[in-house]
Amino acid sequence: MSSPRIHRIVVIEGDGIGPELVGAAMRVLEAVQEAYGGFRLEAEYREGGAELYRRSGVNLAPGTLDAIRAADATMKGPVGLPEVRLPDGTEAGPLGGVLRIGLDTYASLRPVRSLPGVPAPVAGPIDYAIVRENTEGLYLSRGKGVGNDQAVADTLLVTRKGTERVVRFAFELARRRDGAKRVTCVDKSNVLASYAFFRRVFDEVGEAYPDVQRDHLYADAAAQALVLHPQRFDVLVMENLLGDILSDLGGATVGGIGLCPAGNIGDAHAYFEPIHGSAPDLAGQDKANPISQVLAAALMLEHLGEREAAALVRRAVAWSLEQGKLVLAKNGQPEGGTRRAAETLAAAVRTVAHE
Ligand code: IPM
Ligand code: MN
Repeated sequence: MSSPRIHRIVVIEGDGIGPELVGAAMRVLEAVQEAYGGFRLEAEYREGGAELYRRSGVNLAPGTLDAIRAADATMKGPVGLPEVRLPDGTEAGPLGGVLRIGLDTYASLRPVRSLPGVPAPVAGPIDYAIVRENTEGLYLSRGKGVGNDQAVADTLLVTRKGTERVVRFAFELARRRDGAKRVTCVDKSNVLASYAFFRRVFDEVGEAYPDVQRDHLYADAAAQALVLHPQRFDVLVMENLLGDILSDLGGATVGGIGLCPAGNIGDAHAYFEPIHGSAPDLAGQDKANPISQVLAAALMLEHLGEREAAALVRRAVAWSLEQGKLVLAKNGQPEGGTRRAAETLAAAVRTVAHE
């Protein structure tokens, strides 16, 4: 037998429900490695988030960024605790600034997909991907807002380089995906010069992809269309703030953000996480739904080149829900708890691997 491919990953469990979610995803990843056999993950655990900040004054321990840079990918749980704040009033836990900018992971890939057996407020099937610009836009102003007790301003910056690369990512993704091969640019170019520039660069880059359709929507109209006509979408690309908001909206249409993963992907580094927060009120109770984190693990496998293993994880999730092995209650929580859901998914991996 040839020796398995080794992928080195950093694991950050995060805050609130993070450790339970990451535990579940790691359990499923173990099952995939056993069932599939072609590769092995070597995991190195590192701390990050609000709890660490409360204890030590930093939200990422020294050396962690280097460890992440040296690894092949990073799996991260949700972070943040509402009461742990920076002096400017923003939350201390989120690693968005330090990781997204620090690793230059300029594309946040946020697939929105219906899952079988999950009640959703919008009729499916829904299957599109939001590509959120992840390093600039309005959130570049993180920690840099200026003002006094009468007024505060944050600046929205759109650069040519930043837009070109994320738009290219979106077109390349559309090429790889089955189906419509269409990229929709979402902006408010009717109001702001920065968004008009984003749209202009989008059209310029799009010229190089004659095989991919191009269209445009204002963000407010996009919010409506994502609810009324989600089937019209394939890949959407947009500025950071718009992508943050619309990816939660998209998540809601398929049954909740507890089902939704994200990849933060750059040319050199990538990390994978749920799109939602750390739900501290649920923490430690074995109640949280691990699907977002498990699907984040699938995105990570795909990024590591383990496409079949990624597909196996997705099939295991779909199969468990379809067969009623994994049942989500009305509030989105898995019946029987997080740990049982993880065992169910791990068993499903073994089952579908042999189908
Ligand atoms: C997300 C999250 C983060 C963001 C928070 C936790 C800072 O909502 O990944 O969408 O706003 O980017
Ligand atoms: Mn968000």
